[in-house]
Amino acid sequence: MDLFKQVEALIAEIREAQPTDAEGLEQFRRRFVGTKNVIKPFFAEIRNIEADKRKAFGQLLNEAKQLAEQKFEMLKSSVAQAQEESEAQAFDLTAPAEPIELGARHPVAIVMDRIIDIFSRIGFAVAEGPEIEDDWHNFTAMNTPEDHPARDMQDTYYVMNDPGMLLRTHTSSVQAHVMTTQKPPIRIIAPGRVYRNETISARAHCQFHQVEGLYIDEGVSFADMKQTLLYFARQMYGPDARIRLRPSFFPFTEPSAEMDVYWGLKDETDYRITKGTGWLEILGCGMVDPNVLENCGIDSKRYTGFAFGMGIERQAMLQYRVSDIRLFFENDLRFLKQFRGAL
Ligand code: PHE
Repeated sequence: MDLFKQVEALIAEIREAQPTDAEGLEQFRRRFVGTKNVIKPFFAEIRNIEADKRKAFGQLLNEAKQLAEQKFEMLKSSVAQAQEESEAQAFDLTAPAEPIELGARHPVAIVMDRIIDIFSRIGFAVAEGPEIEDDWHNFTAMNTPEDHPARDMQDTYYVMNDPGMLLRTHTSSVQAHVMTTQKPPIRIIAPGRVYRNETISARAHCQFHQVEGLYIDEGVSFADMKQTLLYFARQMYGPDARIRLRPSFFPFTEPSAEMDVYWGLKDETDYRITKGTGWLEILGCGMVDPNVLENCGIDSKRYTGFAFGMGIERQAMLQYRVSDIRLFFENDLRFLKQFRGAL
């Protein structure tokens, strides 16, 4: 076959080539545009062509070369597009959607927010303090000096390389932070995590949450405290909630009390959780001891106040009838999922 015919056959082949995938495209590239393409050797033949046809042959070769390059560029984009389309088809828009797993808020967070909400409505602001606390804020300022027996009730974890630092045993330490940095009138609640060296059981844990309350102003009385706590109990446990205050002892309040809420005695569980009395202990409270005010630089002749502290897990256990405190800390989704949509 003469050389003209051979090159024309290649041109026809290039025109007809229609690869549809990456592999076909690569074959085309190697055959017509790669360094070892089939057009190249014909350039060496130019000198063997009769002189009067040489020019025409050269033009034909250039035409073949250019055509191959242009076609390759065109094919590249059409193959890429075809690939995109087939991927889009693999994505079935009519298939049912993956269900979106709704998270739930932690029961402790739910109850904590409710308590904050209840006290915010009567003008209490939220205050915070550190969980790794110094001895002064946790004990000494709170009228619990070094050898005071009350420290045994709140045995805790000390920081090994700094014995003056410890994990706070109660949110009462925030009282000291607030009183040393703010002037009365003071009206705060302080929610947060606390720690105690307790043997872990269904009723006790080495970590739990508390909400502290503190109100200091001129002329604040025990009656103010009782009314505030009654308001809280009714918001938390319903408009018919009943409370009672029992005398108690805390180093940082005088007089001190424990507050119970009436739970009822309808069934066996009621008997068990109220120890047969129908009453449930909810919080500790009392009038802020003048020593505490003076420790924190507040004039105890001019100002009085009350404080209270309650455990949040305790309230959550009551609200949601949870019988084991450890469930709050185990992150078991079967437990936590049950609080979806809870308020
Ligand atoms: N801090 C006490 C506790 O942890 C509770 C309390 C707070 C009592 C404020 C009286 C006043 O048990």
